[in-house]
Amino acid sequence: MRHLAEIRKKKRRDIRVIEIGSWVGASTCIWSYIGQISVNLGYLDSVEVIAIDPLEPYLGYIHREDHYKAMESALEQKTVEQSFYDNIRKFAYAPNVRLVKLPSDEALPHFASKSVDILYVDGSHFYENVKRDLIHSKRICKNGGLLICDDVEKLKVDDYELHLQALSKRIDYLNGYHPGVTQAVKDVFPFSGTSDISGMYAKKKYSFFFEL
Ligand SMILES: C[S@@+](CC[C@H](N)C(=O)[O-])C[C@H]1O[C@@H](n2cnc3c(N)ncnc32)[C@H](O)[C@@H]1O
Repeated sequence: MRHLAEIRKKKRRDIRVIEIGSWVGASTCIWSYIGQISVNLGYLDSVEVIAIDPLEPYLGYIHREDHYKAMESALEQKTVEQSFYDNIRKFAYAPNVRLVKLPSDEALPHFASKSVDILYVDGSHFYENVKRDLIHSKRICKNGGLLICDDVEKLKVDDYELHLQALSKRIDYLNGYHPGVTQAVKDVFPFSGTSDISGMYAKKKYSFFFEL
């Protein structure tokens, strides 16, 4: 019995979570907090949360809705990073969090193959960005690892032309769905369905492929 316990103890369970798109750190705090609780309870040995976000204006001026304007203006005024660190200090286990201030397509190539346990994609919603993030996920996620992508819904337009226009104009959100995210998931994982309920998409990675 003791021997078995020793063997179990020797197998370390160190978990790396990468979050693409952290904004002021709400989801980062959740990863960090759940991670540290799991360590305290003895389920894991360590949890490392890497938040990747350039925290630079990126939406452009096509988005006229108030919340997009507010986001862009906060990024322009460079107040978001301070809020991120304030929130991490108050609501997370700060020692397990690291912010990498780079766009995901610059940061992800630096991670080794099969080095990530959970990849949470919630950054730019533009088609080409999401597609690159998802393609990287195939390389960097460990076997048995998890890819979670936020804001994936069913394509909700009858007029396909409208969908194509939204993609080319980089419209973030249209009639209840995110055109760029939805299309990128369809293209990178063509055989899997997408959730219409929560807008959240999760896949487990097996040796050579992600589950359908
Ligand atoms: C929807 S917010 C993230 C919200 C956050 N995950 C949460 O749940 O609170 C999108 C974030 O993606 C970031 N972002 C935009 N382009 C990015 C890129 N190329 N790589 C990484 N992050 C990006 C933005 O700066 C913004 O903070």
